[in-house]
Amino acid sequence: MNRPVLHADYAALAASIASLTNGETDEVALMATLACEVHHADDRFDWTGFYRVVGPELLKIGPYQGGHGCLVIPFSRGVCGAAARTGQVQLVPDVDAFPGHIACASSTRSELVLPVFGAAGRLIGVFDIDSDQPDAFRAEDAAQLQAILAETFRQI
Ligand code: SME
Repeated sequence: MNRPVLHADYAALAASIASLTNGETDEVALMATLACEVHHADDRFDWTGFYRVVGPELLKIGPYQGGHGCLVIPFSRGVCGAAARTGQVQLVPDVDAFPGHIACASSTRSELVLPVFGAAGRLIGVFDIDSDQPDAFRAEDAAQLQAILAETFRQI
């Protein structure tokens, strides 16, 4: 029997992440926990993970869930680079229509990338979610995930 389609309950997700990460200030521990909880909250999310700022204009992979993720992305490339470079959310309904999209998996059809800021507005990295479904993401997803990221990383 097919199980019902899983769709993120963001209030419940925010509460479980807050309790799991309460008092934690280690960046990798926070990223690993958030990637796991978000990934398993919604059937649209096929790859869920972080890219960390490791040098001037340079991102490197962090904790993630799903298949293979590319290791290094300069700010000048891809959807992740665009989010880091502009500090703006990138909601991409069709990755084939995004100039310079980096295909770590050929199955990806749509993508959502959010910049991650820490204390004093420092750019820590980006949070990337890929979906095998076309046009999978809504502005509501971006707004809810931005609030969870801000709450989780505000002390880092
Ligand atoms: N597609 C991303 C690269 C990372 S993979 O999706 C995990 C991009 O274009 O930046």
